[in-house]
Amino acid sequence: MKKILITGANGLLGQSLVDIFQKKYTMIATGVEDRSMHPNQNVKYQILDISNFNQSKDLINKFAPDVIINAASFTQVDACENQREICWQINVKGVENLANLCRRYDIHLIHYSTDYVFDGKKGPYSENDRPHPLGYYGKSKLASENVLRQIACPFTIARTCVIYGNAVQVKKNFYLWVLENLQKKLPLKVVTDQYNNPTLAEDLALGTELVIQASLLGTLHLAGKEYLNRFDFAVSIAKFFDLDANLLQPIETAQLKQASPRPMYGGLKIDKAIEMLQYEPRTVNNTFSFLKWKMNRNDR
Ligand SMILES: NC(=O)c1ccc[n+]([C@@H]2O[C@H](COP(=O)([O-])OP(=O)(O)OC[C@H]3O[C@@H](n4cnc5c(N)ncnc54)[C@H](OP(=O)(O)O)[C@@H]3O)[C@@H](O)[C@H]2O)c1
Repeated sequence: MKKILITGANGLLGQSLVDIFQKKYTMIATGVEDRSMHPNQNVKYQILDISNFNQSKDLINKFAPDVIINAASFTQVDACENQREICWQINVKGVENLANLCRRYDIHLIHYSTDYVFDGKKGPYSENDRPHPLGYYGKSKLASENVLRQIACPFTIARTCVIYGNAVQVKKNFYLWVLENLQKKLPLKVVTDQYNNPTLAEDLALGTELVIQASLLGTLHLAGKEYLNRFDFAVSIAKFFDLDANLLQPIETAQLKQASPRPMYGGLKIDKAIEMLQYEPRTVNNTFSFLKWKMNRNDR
């Protein structure tokens, strides 16, 4: 049975990875918090800050994983513009630490990147398209990809976009932001000009398991099934959960005056993952059925 170490396990994706890997693998969850946020408090958990090389080395030595899944990242896109040092330490230096250790001990490192490595002029993008990030977050994630290519440990770069779902004490993702505001009957402004394929955290975690089973190395796009703009995605949420879609006010990205520029036609082609791994993300409505079931189960 493969031994899996998950970093950033208290994040949105991290908690879905724990859900899947705790059942079938010998797994250790790690994060910067002093305890696991996962509802199953029996999950094996250790503190790990990936930007700390010695802490990473000690834990990797002790646990001796076959695979490290790096879900740790500084993910606040606008904050990356004015906290560049912290962003670089986590998103690039942290990955460099893991990559060096994975090369030393021959560990398969699975690392997540983003469609924000592209400029959004002609998405959705395939693995062969040329990156050209607009903002500092995208630049740091592209730099993290290049660190892996340079250090050349056994690695998989899984690019994804707009991860959504329910998890304990995580930052608001787009789905939760829309759902919670509509449930409170609050109006909200949603952009009509940003296109991508939103990705259910659980689908990405299942895709990651396929990567491990196939020992697939290289760069791979793992994202949602449907390509749509944020406004239409918000309308789908309203319709599915029987909430008032009239509270959604269409606006354009430029009106938000965000610190970081956004790719307009972002998103990722997932043909390679479908062909090579039989990756099968759900339709948007099926992801909502799943999330409703998960909410009713009452653990998140
Ligand atoms: N969310 C998206 O829409 C999206 C889109 C494309 C790609 N991705 C990529 O997908 C991956 C997972 O994203 P996510 O949405 O699950 O992000 P998330 O919810 O922000 O989770 C990231 C986790 O990493 C932790 N972390 C931060 N610094 C760390 C450090 N130095 N060492 C260890 N852990 C650290 C965070 O802790 P704190 O919360 O305490 O800081 C958080 O628990 C990331 O690589 C992200 O870049 C995300």
